[in-house]
Amino acid sequence: MQTEHGTAPHVRDDHAPWRPRPTLGGDDYTSWDVYRQERERIWWGDWVCAGRTEEVANVGDYIVRDIAGESIFVTRNAAGELHGFYNVCSHRGTKFVDDIEGTGNVRKAFKCPYHAWTYDLNGRLIGTPNVKEDELFDRSAFPLHPVHVDSYAGFLFVNLAVEPSRTLMDALTDGAESITVFERFKMDELRIGVRIVYEVEANWKILVENYNECLHCPQIHPELVQVVPLFRFGEVWDEELRDDGNRMVEGATSFTVSGTSELPKLPNLAPEDHDMYYGSYEFPNLMLNLHPDCGMYYIGFPKGPNHTTVVSEYLFRPETIAGPNFKPEPVVELWDLISKQDWEVCARAQTGVGSRAFTTGIYPRQDRFLYWFNEEYRQAMGRELQG
Ligand code: FES
Ligand SMILES: [Fe+2]
Repeated sequence: MQTEHGTAPHVRDDHAPWRPRPTLGGDDYTSWDVYRQERERIWWGDWVCAGRTEEVANVGDYIVRDIAGESIFVTRNAAGELHGFYNVCSHRGTKFVDDIEGTGNVRKAFKCPYHAWTYDLNGRLIGTPNVKEDELFDRSAFPLHPVHVDSYAGFLFVNLAVEPSRTLMDALTDGAESITVFERFKMDELRIGVRIVYEVEANWKILVENYNECLHCPQIHPELVQVVPLFRFGEVWDEELRDDGNRMVEGATSFTVSGTSELPKLPNLAPEDHDMYYGSYEFPNLMLNLHPDCGMYYIGFPKGPNHTTVVSEYLFRPETIAGPNFKPEPVVELWDLISKQDWEVCARAQTGVGSRAFTTGIYPRQDRFLYWFNEEYRQAMGRELQG
C-alpha cells in the first residue's frame, strides 16, 4: 500500500496555462464495483475523519461510526487514551454498540447484548458469564478487533488498515490543501455548538467536487455570492490571499446574510482574518470552513455509491457556547441554506451521471481543484495519473 501515497499530484501551480481535462467516468459515481474498491483502498485503507475528540472527552465515552459499511467505535480509557474497535463481538460476531444515537458512556466496560461477554476500555475480554476458566479457553486471545485512531486540532481520525501506510500528519499535509495551516484558529479548543445531519442522494465524490468549485455559485447560491463577491465569478479562491482565503463583501465580519453577527471573534486571529472566509478540503471526507467567529465543517460518510450522510457541525469557543447570549443562528441559517442548495444539485448531478449517455464530462479552468482531487483519488485507487 506504500505506492499510493508516494508523491502527491502537483497542485497550486495556478499560473500555468490550463488545458481542460475530463471528469471521472460515470461508473466512478455509480458502480458498486468501484465503491467496493474505494472501501478497501480509501475508506478502510487510510485515514478518515470520524468526528471530534470532544465527543469522547471522558473515560468510557464512546462514539459509533459507520465507515463505508463497517461499524466501528472509539472510546477513551482510564489513562485518557483513545482506542478504536470494530463493533463486533469476539464471541460470535454480534454488533454490540448501537449506533442509533451514536454516542454514550459505558463507565468501565462494553457488554455484548447477546451473551453478555464484557470488554474493558482497552478492548480486553474480561467477562464471559457461565463460561468457566477450566474450559481451557484463553480470554486474552479474544480481545476486540482494533482500529487505529489519531487526532489533529480536535478532529478525530480512524484508520482501518491493519498497518497504516502513513501517519495522520503525512496524510493531512499531502494533497492540494491542508487544514494544518490554520493553527491560529486553535481548533482543538473549539467545541461543537450546533450539529445538522443531512442525507444526500449523491456519491461522496460529487459532494467533494461540488465543494471545490464555484462555477455553480452565481446560479445556485444567490445569497452566498452576496457575502463572498469573488464567488460570483465562478472562482473558489483568491490567488493573492493567503491560505486559500476569500475576502467577504466590504463591511462583513461574519459569514451571515447581513455580514454581521453577535458572535465574538475568535481570539488569536490576525486583523486580516476578520473579513475572510477560508475553505479547506482534506481527502477523503473533511470539508472545513473557517470564519472570523466560528468554524464549520462537513464530514461525509458514504452509504453506497449513491448516498452520502453528511454531518455538519459548527465550532465555537466553549465560553461563547456557555454564555447567555449565544446566538449561532445567523451563521447556521446561511450555511444550512447553502447546504440544501448544494445537496439538491448534487442529487441532480448523481441522476445524470448514471445515464448511459454520460461517459465523462469536462473540467474548465475554474474546475481545476476538482481535477486535482480526481488525481488524488486516482492515486489512492492505484490508477494511472492523467497529468
Ligand atoms: S456474541 Fe457477543 S457475547 Fe456472544
Ligand atoms: Fe455550493
